[in-house]
Amino acid sequence: MRNLLSFLLVLSAVDAQRTTQWTFVQNGTSGIIPVELITISPTLMLMYDRADGNPLLLPNGERAWAALWNLETNTPTPLSTITDTFCAGGGFISNGTLVSVAGQPLENPGQPPADGRMGIRLFGPCTSPSGENCTVFEDPENIHLAVTRWYPTGLRIPDGSLMVIGGANINTFYNTGPTVEDSIEFFPSRPGEEGMVRSSQFLLDAEPVNMFPRSFVLPSGHVFVIANNITMIYDVETNTETRLPDIPNGIRIANPFDGTAQLLPLSPPLYEPTVLVCGGSAADDTRPVTNLTTEDPATNQCSRITLTPAGTAIGWEVERMPEVRILMESVMLPTGDVLLINGAHTGYSGYPSVSGSNATGSNAANPAFRGILYRTEFPAGQRITQEGLPTSNIARMYHSAASLTAKGNVMVAGSNPHPAVVLPPTTLQFPTEFRVQYLNPDFITNNDPRPVIQSSPTQISFNQKATFKVAIPPSLLIGDIKVSLMDLGYVTHAQHSNSRLVFLEHTLLGNNLEVTAPPNNNIYPPGPAWLFLVADGVHSEGVQVMVGDGGDPPRADQGIKIPINSL
Ligand SMILES: *[C@@H]1O[C@H](CO)[C@@H](O)[C@H](O)[C@H]1NC(C)=O
Ligand SMILES: *[C@@H]1O[C@H](CO)[C@@H](O)[C@H](O)[C@H]1NC(C)=O
Ligand SMILES: *[C@@H]1O[C@H](CO)[C@@H](O)[C@H](O)[C@H]1NC(C)=O
Ligand SMILES: *[C@@H]1O[C@H](CO)[C@@H](O)[C@H](O)[C@H]1NC(C)=O
Ligand SMILES: *[C@@H]1O[C@H](CO)[C@@H](O)[C@H](O)[C@H]1NC(C)=O
Ligand SMILES: *[C@@H]1O[C@H](CO)[C@@H](O)[C@H](O)[C@H]1NC(C)=O
Repeated sequence: MRNLLSFLLVLSAVDAQRTTQWTFVQNGTSGIIPVELITISPTLMLMYDRADGNPLLLPNGERAWAALWNLETNTPTPLSTITDTFCAGGGFISNGTLVSVAGQPLENPGQPPADGRMGIRLFGPCTSPSGENCTVFEDPENIHLAVTRWYPTGLRIPDGSLMVIGGANINTFYNTGPTVEDSIEFFPSRPGEEGMVRSSQFLLDAEPVNMFPRSFVLPSGHVFVIANNITMIYDVETNTETRLPDIPNGIRIANPFDGTAQLLPLSPPLYEPTVLVCGGSAADDTRPVTNLTTEDPATNQCSRITLTPAGTAIGWEVERMPEVRILMESVMLPTGDVLLINGAHTGYSGYPSVSGSNATGSNAANPAFRGILYRTEFPAGQRITQEGLPTSNIARMYHSAASLTAKGNVMVAGSNPHPAVVLPPTTLQFPTEFRVQYLNPDFITNNDPRPVIQSSPTQISFNQKATFKVAIPPSLLIGDIKVSLMDLGYVTHAQHSNSRLVFLEHTLLGNNLEVTAPPNNNIYPPGPAWLFLVADGVHSEGVQVMVGDGGDPPRADQGIKIPINSL
């Protein structure tokens, strides 16, 4: 008896401390630089870039600036686009179409691509997993933004449409002067606002560090926005901005001081939202560009705030990473932990412009080669670790990306601090990077038994129950089970817009997993999602489900009103 008890105690202690060992595997080259990287099917990743110098060619011999990456063959297939997709924003909308908005101004008059700044690109839904016949649809004459933008955020809001936030009009380091676009618009336009934008005092106040503002839909339906070192709650319905506490200690996180941010997992019954911010820079943004240097240290600060009345009374809570980081990606994992990866220890985003960047060809220097794990459920002070994470030998700085795939590993690719492709041999320190890596958890590396979702509905309705057939290896049944409903985000510039994880209520009876879909469209804005089953810290592959009725935006409120605790 006593032996059994101590055996069980050891077992539960081991369980609580389970550390996943991760391994890098390099396979294939991306053909274009995945400046934007989006998971779109069980086997495909969509990548958007610019055309200059990419080795991947379209059938007509022109250089490609969009491609589908196949996770099984590790090869890219070029996609044809009309407008320049470089440094666009975007997200999925309620009917499953991936919308990419804005992009680069005209580079080479008379030659493709066309000016991307008012561009709207519609992709899918892609019905064939092989990617056959999946195309980017554009009709620039008839379907375009109200104004020109570059470096905006695209955020799916509770009515299933895309909120397009901010941006610049020209190639700029600091976003300031007459070329800023400190405004908000929607795709599709809201009734009565066709061809119009809403000006934003908040974005104006956040100049000159306000590109790709980090934005999240809260369970109240309001939008939380961070730009520079300031924050606000935006009410879409009343068009009102309410300021919340600044990020502490002068840390700035939007482009060109790119730190990363995530809405931490939302859990029933109250879905209290906490936002985590990591990395960025404490540099004074009144310093002229040429006074900034490639060796200016980034910050090691992570800070989080719970967006409830009690949480904002406490304010931001600061934690420290073992290293300083800028240009770092944050990848939400099905467990609810956040992987922090890529980036540099010093410098800034943007094309070479700061002091010292002419020599290196990059505004950032001292690449960060090792990931950091933020363990969401651990107590403060113990959440941040590098245990189990390997060191890479590939620098991934400006214009690199990392995304969770449907297979459940992390695709890590890109890096190009230069205005065009620069290949070795070169005197510049950080050549353009086309090699693709995967960061695999040990259970994928070792081909260990994982939970499997054997069959699933293709659509779930808000607040309704749905049944999935699953198989969980007996060895994993000793731990807890989580059902993670996720948007894997539109990854670009250290921003994973629309990244979201909602833990679903569930019961497991034999092989039947009965889940309850999110209560309403504020908890998960209607649109496509990936569902992962996690048992004892080991996650299944994801299955794609449409959340809501799958209709075109705007969708009316769906589901039921519930008591929540959210600003
Ligand atoms: C790379 O991917 C290809 C296609 O899936 C596969 O055949 C090959 O074994 C992989 N190589 C490595 C080193 O994993
Ligand atoms: C792709 O298009 C071709 C020609 O229209 C058609 O024959 C084929 O069935 C399509 N494939 C898929 C997977 O839809
Ligand atoms: C945010 O930045 C502004 C000006 O750049 C500064 O005045 C303010 O003190 C900063 N806030 C914090 C909390 O550091
Ligand atoms: C930046 O400005 C400060 C204050 O004037 C000066 O001490 C420093 O040398 C400057 N650095 C660069 C790289 O210009
Ligand atoms: C980099 O070189 C260009 C061209 O020689 C020059 O115009 C620019 O001022 C230099 N930038 C810096 C930060 O030294
Ligand atoms: C999804 O909705 C958008 C906006 O209304 C529309 O342009 C697009 O064609 C729709 N997608 C599909 C596949 O119908």
